[in-house]
Amino acid sequence: MAAVEDIFHPVVELPEPVRAERYQRLVGLDDVKDRLRREARLLADPTSLRAWSLEHHGAELPALALFADRGPLFVFAGDVGAGKSALAESFGCDLSDRLDLPVYLYRLKLTARGTGLVGEMTTLIGDAFGHLLALGRKARSAKGPTTLYIMVIDEADALAQSRAAEHMHHEDRAGVDALLAGVDSLAGEGVPVLVVLCTNRERALDPAVTRRAAATFQFGRPDDEQRRTVLNEALNGTGVSSATVAKLVTATGPTERQPGFTYSDLTQRLIPAAVLAAFPDKPLTDDTLLAVARELQPTPEFRETVT
Ligand SMILES: Nc1ncnc2c1ncn2[C@@H]1O[C@H](COP(=O)(O)OP(=O)(O)OP(=O)(O)O)[C@@H](O)[C@H]1O
Ligand SMILES: [Mg+2]
Repeated sequence: MAAVEDIFHPVVELPEPVRAERYQRLVGLDDVKDRLRREARLLADPTSLRAWSLEHHGAELPALALFADRGPLFVFAGDVGAGKSALAESFGCDLSDRLDLPVYLYRLKLTARGTGLVGEMTTLIGDAFGHLLALGRKARSAKGPTTLYIMVIDEADALAQSRAAEHMHHEDRAGVDALLAGVDSLAGEGVPVLVVLCTNRERALDPAVTRRAAATFQFGRPDDEQRRTVLNEALNGTGVSSATVAKLVTATGPTERQPGFTYSDLTQRLIPAAVLAAFPDKPLTDDTLLAVARELQPTPEFRETVT
């Protein structure tokens, strides 16, 4: 089996201050966070569902059986710069606090792709799951899990493309199959390992992948209120007026000709551009912000091109 450092980016122990703060600052994802928390708890500790059933229904409900087949897989799908990667890499902080468990974040390196070695992708995926399965087995105990592992497969569309795609190379197909086998191997063992797959192209994902997912979450562009929240937070302390923020909310919203700004358009383009326009001689003013907002184009909408 390949060395851990060849399969994953450096492993991160959670909670960790930067990611914990990032998690808190994510706007518009409260429903996703809530669902993720419940699902993650169930998957990490299947006995808790049985305990719930006994406590509240006096018996093991037949419905519990429906949970047994679900893979410990979450799909984060949707628009660019909407918080998929940020949430995938930070929700473990919240889980660690709530479940009172150490959480380890394993981010798969998909960089090996494209070097042309046949079987490389399959081996990478197989090794990654093999590794986490082994860790997960050690983390099981009669009293519930002792550690939780989260594996993030970011930019997964390259990997999990639809097997129906005609131009698909043999190697890609093998990668999907390895992914499916990996998810199944975790599900069968009931180990405290969660897998998160992030993609812009949900429709390009193999139906067999989405079918195994415990949940698929959609990420979109911020509405007026969400843009206001992000802007207020980012402009905190600048003295920019609420009237200006209201104008910014409008200027960054959708029009007939174009979509609204993405979250990352606000945090990584608009605000930095305005700060740089003022730096180093002037303070950040309402006028600068408005001028930059009117000049910037939102990131074009991601077009699903399923072949
Ligand atoms: N829901 C959100 N609330 C606040 N800020 C956000 C949100 N989503 C994204 N951002 C900002 O945009 C940045 C990029 O987000 P992220 O990398 O998570 O996007 P993504 O959905 O993974 O996009 P891509 O599909 O391009 O990979 C974040 O670091 C953050 O500054
Ligand atoms: Mg991302």
